Amino acid sequence: MSVGIDEISFYTSNYYLDLRTLAQVQGADPEKYYTGIGQEKMAIAAPDEDIVTMAANAALPLVERIGPEAVGTLLFATETGIDQSKAAGIYVHRLLGLHSNCRVVELKQACYSATAAIQMACALVARQPERRVMVIASDIARYDLDTPGEATQGCGAVALLISADPRLVSLDPEVGNYTEDVMDFWRPNYRSTALVDGKYSTKIYLKALKRAWEQFRQASPLTFSDFSRFCYHLPFSRMAQKAHQQLVKLNRADLSPAEQAAQIDATLLYNRIIGNSYTASMYIGLASLLENTAEDLAGQRIGFFSYGSGCVAEFFSGRVVAGYRRALHSEHHRALLNARREICYEEYLKLYRQQVPCDGGEHTFPEGTTGRFRLAGIFHHKREYIPC
Ligand code: CAA
Repeated sequence: MSVGIDEISFYTSNYYLDLRTLAQVQGADPEKYYTGIGQEKMAIAAPDEDIVTMAANAALPLVERIGPEAVGTLLFATETGIDQSKAAGIYVHRLLGLHSNCRVVELKQACYSATAAIQMACALVARQPERRVMVIASDIARYDLDTPGEATQGCGAVALLISADPRLVSLDPEVGNYTEDVMDFWRPNYRSTALVDGKYSTKIYLKALKRAWEQFRQASPLTFSDFSRFCYHLPFSRMAQKAHQQLVKLNRADLSPAEQAAQIDATLLYNRIIGNSYTASMYIGLASLLENTAEDLAGQRIGFFSYGSGCVAEFFSGRVVAGYRRALHSEHHRALLNARREICYEEYLKLYRQQVPCDGGEHTFPEGTTGRFRLAGIFHHKREYIPC
């Protein structure tokens, strides 16, 4: 029996800031963003949007297809937690009308935790193959204004259905992990923006790739040449290009620059125009690969490198299932991205500066999202979510 990813659906905000606009305000060369970090646009959350509404919007198409009763467990991965105690997935459970017998829990380890959730989901499905597990990764990437990280903000959520005999990607059991206690990127509980040692974080990312790959090679019979495509964690798309160059070099693979690019380019398309979505980013990259590759990928192996600052990394692999195209939500995703509205710098600042009220009063939020769920307000410290 194979276990893996049966379906993927993602959601992002209907607002974006073009990085040319940011560059203009900063007096910088737009090519620094478009080419230097490989990003064009960053999605900015609407005033009535948070990780819960984005997650529910991402998961809705899956629940509409399989029915709310079919989800046995919901694992919610995020590093934009809205509560120190209650799992954000419980709000999603109600919004989607999931069964009261469904187990819900939240997982955290920076951008890596969706991968941990997927591995746990595979183990649950292996024990009870008739059950389906939903993994949702949802994040809003926020850095301080006028810092190098500002251009790498973004937001998005991805929902993945993990099942036996999956229709998209069958995951191999062998993995390579790497963990090290480092301070490359972190967000103390009292901060709404991340702290980051940017250059150091890119070095640690590459070190973790090398070490996770080496361990993967010990665990798995697969070698570099068994893979036709690679999905990397995508804080910005240039990071994946650097990571792939390193992996090619490490394996002394005889590939031209064009052949190397062909192994990752299709994974970058959505993230270039969404920005970083932390836990969701690599899986939005997988959707981008499957939905934008003209060649039939059936039977081909994909290598995945998941990285979460702090840090935990994992290299794992999967094989694309024959007929996968029938299970994709390509048109829905393209329509979502095409319907977005560009905002000016002043609108961006206004959205950026919107604070989460913490005085226990009654606060309603202006309508902004075009999604199916919105955060109507916070009343006496309680978030109120409603369908639109
Ligand atoms: N035209 C073309 N390219 C240009 C350019 C121009 N006019 N100006 C600069 N560049 C290039 C630079 O040469 C550089 O390229 P290389 O990396 O190939 O040398 C690139 O643009 C970036 O420029 P800088 O080196 O000046 O770096 P920066 O000040 O823009 O900062 C960063 C880059 C440190 C990554 C910053 O964006 C950052 O702090 N980001 C947040 C942290 C992050 O994403 N880290 C990634 C690893 S951690 C992780 O993955 C977890 C996570 O999700 C956060």
